[in-house]
Amino acid sequence: MDKKWWKESVVYQIYPRSFCDSNGDGIGDLNGIRSKLDYLQNLGINVIWLSPVYKSPNDDNGYDISDYQDIMDDFGNMEDFDNLLKEAHEHDIKIVMDLVVNHTSDEHKWFIESRSSKDNPKRDYYIWREGKDGKEPNNWGSCFSGSAWQYDETTGMYYLHCFSTKQPDLNWDNPKVRDEVFNMMTWWCEKGIDGFRMDVISMISKVEGLPDGKVWPGGKYGDLSNTTNGPHVHQYLQEMNKKVLSKYDIMTVGECAGVTIEEAQKYAGNDQTELNMVFQFEHTSLDHDENGKWTTKRFYLPDLKENLSKWQVELSGKAWNSLYWDNHDQPRIVSRLGDDSVASAKCVATVLHMMQGTPYVYQGEELGMTNCKFGSIENCKDIEILNAYKELVEGGKLSEEAFMKGVEAKGRDNARTPMQWDSSENAGFTTGKPWIMVNPNYKDINAKRQVADEDSVFNYYKKLIKLRRNSEWSDIIVYGIYELLDPKDENVYTYLRKLNNRTLLVICNVSDSEIDYQVPTDCKEEATLLISNNENVKLQKNIKLPPWFAGVWEI
Ligand code: NOJ
Repeated sequence: MDKKWWKESVVYQIYPRSFCDSNGDGIGDLNGIRSKLDYLQNLGINVIWLSPVYKSPNDDNGYDISDYQDIMDDFGNMEDFDNLLKEAHEHDIKIVMDLVVNHTSDEHKWFIESRSSKDNPKRDYYIWREGKDGKEPNNWGSCFSGSAWQYDETTGMYYLHCFSTKQPDLNWDNPKVRDEVFNMMTWWCEKGIDGFRMDVISMISKVEGLPDGKVWPGGKYGDLSNTTNGPHVHQYLQEMNKKVLSKYDIMTVGECAGVTIEEAQKYAGNDQTELNMVFQFEHTSLDHDENGKWTTKRFYLPDLKENLSKWQVELSGKAWNSLYWDNHDQPRIVSRLGDDSVASAKCVATVLHMMQGTPYVYQGEELGMTNCKFGSIENCKDIEILNAYKELVEGGKLSEEAFMKGVEAKGRDNARTPMQWDSSENAGFTTGKPWIMVNPNYKDINAKRQVADEDSVFNYYKKLIKLRRNSEWSDIIVYGIYELLDPKDENVYTYLRKLNNRTLLVICNVSDSEIDYQVPTDCKEEATLLISNNENVKLQKNIKLPPWFAGVWEI
């Protein structure tokens, strides 16, 4: 057991725009977050991951940064940030910043200079290429639809943008770019922040010569495989580690699109020469289909178990996992794997929170906040959704109805509706007009009601977090070995956690049917119950599992 504080932590992600608005402009802000620190302390988390709060024109809600050392006007100013950091620390809560350095905003001063002329000293901060036969330099498609290249009239060349046209990719092969980034990171570390979540960090090194990507059947553009886990990514992260990260006691997590087990062992290996842990994306793609994410397809439990178990087993003792269902890019897990019910919210939480790794709770997940019926594209704000609508619906590839069903099942805006604080107007999120619609179910699902209700999803999360952080089972839950039982069962997710001759048994009925289940391991009746969403169910060899049942015992 190589014990570390960040392995024993539970992280809570805040998407500031949608968390809490303190000044009535309809947009969440830093002072709003500060006003909710007691709530977070009560929940029991000890780290906040703050989605970007830097200066930004908000083409992609802050993931397009125009000044890394200033705060977005909508969210407040640097003094508000300093106050938040100080008060969070007083609440024993650390703050991890979102580090978005694969790209900047096109309104960043580096890019403004870079695009101004071919011989500008900052030209090589970005990835500029001549067109090929009057077209883009290669076939790469952007993650947000269309080509990944934008023609720029000033110099008659194209720049690369793996995301929106307002998010030009930085050229990490330029040592000056790396130094600028490392200096900026040092500046934040000196301020006293507690770590970084690194946005699409697996994409910073592109394959030399920028070769075409693979065009998948039905697709128009090549994929971005030549931008992920590229030839120098580990070298650059090791340099970052040496020059910045290793000097501070901070936590780091890399968002690693396209990461494999083998790669994850390099990014987040026990030798700790790069990052502490990675976010992998395999499990969140299992309910996509041949046309991608805009589908109502649901998870098939044996596939989900196989995938999560692979990450549990193959990183164990070698690297460190992050555990997540939700974030600001994913639909709500209670709708995606559950059925919107309280029991299902507790069930899917149990599946995740008893695994090995550092768990992440995304704002509202602890309330069982659900996906939203947007009804019409007019109610959607996300650039990914809006661009896909243009390409797929206006391009005649999908009907509006099918697309909107896909959006309501998988779209990013599901996670971005305002946090539901209470049953007052706009769910208590703002006194003004919210920047995005509030989920109409806020009168039923809200924090005020749940904090007061012992059987709520909130209080269940609180218990799960306490078991991990501060109980006699903490060591097994954090460090124990994971062992999947019944891999092929289509309804029940059962696994063991083992450490020093102690064993936990986790049984979750991930279905809306009652299941007659034979427990696939020895279980004595005197087992100790740690947590359950239905305490009437007693552990025995043949057990009737109510729909969405979850229980954890020491056996
Ligand atoms: C991943 C972020 O999580 C997502 O929200 C963003 O749109 C892209 N990276 C681009 O920064």
